[in-house]
Amino acid sequence: MPRTAIAGTGYYVPERVVTNHDLTLLMATSDEWIVERTGIRERRWVPEGMSGAEMAKRASLMALEAAGLVPADVDAIVLGTLNPDHFAPGTGVFLQRELGMAGVPAIDIRAQCSAFVYGLSIADAFIRSGQYRTILLVGVEIQSTGIDVSTRGRDIAVLFGDGAGAAVLTATEDQDRGVLSTHLHADGRFAEMLWVEFESGKHHPRITADMIHEGRHFPSMNGKEVFKHAVVRMPEAVEEALAANGLGVGDLDLVIPHQANLRITQMVQRRLGLSDAQVVSNIHKYGNTTAATIPIALAEAVREGRLERGDLLCLVAFGSGFTWGSALVRW
Ligand SMILES: CC(C)(COP(=O)(O)OP(=O)(O)OC[C@H]1O[C@@H](n2cnc3c(N)ncnc32)[C@H](O)[C@@H]1OP(=O)(O)O)[C@@H](O)C(=O)NCCC(=O)NCCS
Repeated sequence: MPRTAIAGTGYYVPERVVTNHDLTLLMATSDEWIVERTGIRERRWVPEGMSGAEMAKRASLMALEAAGLVPADVDAIVLGTLNPDHFAPGTGVFLQRELGMAGVPAIDIRAQCSAFVYGLSIADAFIRSGQYRTILLVGVEIQSTGIDVSTRGRDIAVLFGDGAGAAVLTATEDQDRGVLSTHLHADGRFAEMLWVEFESGKHHPRITADMIHEGRHFPSMNGKEVFKHAVVRMPEAVEEALAANGLGVGDLDLVIPHQANLRITQMVQRRLGLSDAQVVSNIHKYGNTTAATIPIALAEAVREGRLERGDLLCLVAFGSGFTWGSALVRW
């Protein structure tokens, strides 16, 4: 059975840097509050008119180039986002069009911050089964156009940023490398803990002027509840992946956790007893870019030389849904 190797990675973040100070001009907040509670110093926002598909294209071309491939080599696109360019169809088909890949299937994943890990699991199953040999896996997010940047929305607005990350996955017969296993979970009992209530397909009309006035089209979150679950579920998912492969924490070389909050990352690191060098953190630069976070961090880690052939890498995510999961990869 073939294994799934990560043959190339890429990312794109918009040029526009939005610092904590910039946010103080829009809402009642401060650099001290944001840095102390979240570790975030700045994030990127798209310029007017830039689509998620455009960002995804830039990240994808970088990943394809790193893999020594071109769009025509790709058998399928798997794309995660919680902020699609349009309600329908999904952003995957717009990316496919941008890359000139007519005919190739494009699958959108709705798993929020866990979308890249969910997508890796789906792509890995396609490759192991022999259905596809080369898959473009992308996470992309435009948060800035959908957040409430007034004081009312400050708990969320300071956290999120825009960006895209991509990985080219290829089938390999080499049994010593590639994705070892993936582990996915969800608990819909907590769906309203971090959600976007409207517009809603189950309401008629889907959204009203009153709802917009009340800000119910913006994401809302119970931050404390999200925090509490994240710091338990993420280490648990890492341990689950290690146990499934007869490995222990001591075997890990690098962990790339979803970047929701520096304090969450630090608690995960402490619970697992890992050093700073073993845990990737880039939240200070980008905030939480949801589905794009892990592939951006992975692409940066590769370029910083933090992964060598044979290293054991764990990706772990937690987010809205709640959804969470992990993937163990032999680099
Ligand atoms: C959002 C989060 C940083 C808030 O930190 P916290 O320590 O829980 O802060 P609280 O919610 O208790 O708020 C403390 C106070 O700060 C205020 N506050 C909230 N956002 C603020 C901001 N951006 N600037 C200044 N003050 C803010 C609150 O209104 C509250 O004021 P009050 O005490 O007068 O009511 C934290 O809960 C968190 O990171 N949760 C996880 C979020 C997450 O990871 N989401 C994505 C999941 S993928």
